[in-house]
Amino acid sequence: MSLSSTKSISVQKVEKSRIGQVDFDNLTFGATFSDHMFECDYKDGEWQNPTIKPYGNISISPAAKVFHYGQAVFEGMKAYKDDNGKIWLFRPEQNFLRINKSSKRMAIPEFPREIFFEALEQLVKLDKEWVRPGMGNSLYIRPFAMASQVGVSASPSTEYKFMILMSPAQAYYTGDVRVEIAEHYSRSANGGVGAAKAAGNYGAQFYPTNLAREKGFQQVIWTDASDHKYLEEAGTMNVFFRVNDTLLTAPISDRILDGVTRKSIIALAKNDNIKVEERPVLVSEIVEAAKNGSLKEIFGAGTAAVISPVSAFSYKDTVYEIDKQEDSYAAQFKKELLDIQYNRSEDPFNWRYEI
Ligand code: COI
Repeated sequence: MSLSSTKSISVQKVEKSRIGQVDFDNLTFGATFSDHMFECDYKDGEWQNPTIKPYGNISISPAAKVFHYGQAVFEGMKAYKDDNGKIWLFRPEQNFLRINKSSKRMAIPEFPREIFFEALEQLVKLDKEWVRPGMGNSLYIRPFAMASQVGVSASPSTEYKFMILMSPAQAYYTGDVRVEIAEHYSRSANGGVGAAKAAGNYGAQFYPTNLAREKGFQQVIWTDASDHKYLEEAGTMNVFFRVNDTLLTAPISDRILDGVTRKSIIALAKNDNIKVEERPVLVSEIVEAAKNGSLKEIFGAGTAAVISPVSAFSYKDTVYEIDKQEDSYAAQFKKELLDIQYNRSEDPFNWRYEI
């Protein structure tokens, strides 16, 4: 679709905003949605009828392929309000590129750049009051695509819906996170869909994560599917390990999500002259570092989770506690990142995108 036709996103506004009913100081992550949403259909070989409309239920056949074969991908982004009331997105180009990469892997037609950005701009502007000021407040943006063709034959859908929802958010994790290192279950395998933000990647983690939760761990750190020797990523975030003063993280592969927060932390670390190694990280070296005291920090990084310190990990039924660091890298990167996102500092990498 050309740029001129993206200008024709049709807009149906709510008659009365629901914003007055929302307790912004007590939000459960992802449970409250703003007044409007975006919807666009793929039919007859093209994306058509881009529409902004009141948030609400949609009508879809129970035979739609998404329900039977899980052909669905999504993204996570945030809008931030600065102290002067201006609204910013953070590296939205990365989310645009990644949703299309995920779509390609799941045989979903790519979404046009112009409509993606136009929809985001119009939607966020329309619901700008839902972006609350103040560090820690944001509007979580959830673009997603799903197979809507009716029929249960196991083949790619010929029809899709691309939608964007927005949800006011505060912290995803309150407090530190305790994690279990996976020894039996796996998140992704070579040649699989691990690098895609495919809906099923998340659903498949719920059962093993529930088992970990029963033992007091909020998240699982996934290991390689072949021998569970290498640390990969956690359920809702990429993971960093600080051994002495070096930062370690698994390299991007077809098993690991190319996280926007992950790549931003790597850039910040390099800019701060912190040594970063993107390389396979052995479980055994982290266990050894925990034993000999050189493991200083573990933290997760993701759009929803921001930067979440890990206070303990469990491996083969032994729990390793991680002491808080005075010169915490997690705290340093979180401050640098939030300062950029909330327009409280310079933006040397050009990451901010003004709405
Ligand atoms: C995000 O950080 O945006 C994610 O997609 C994680 C999500 C599963 C909450």
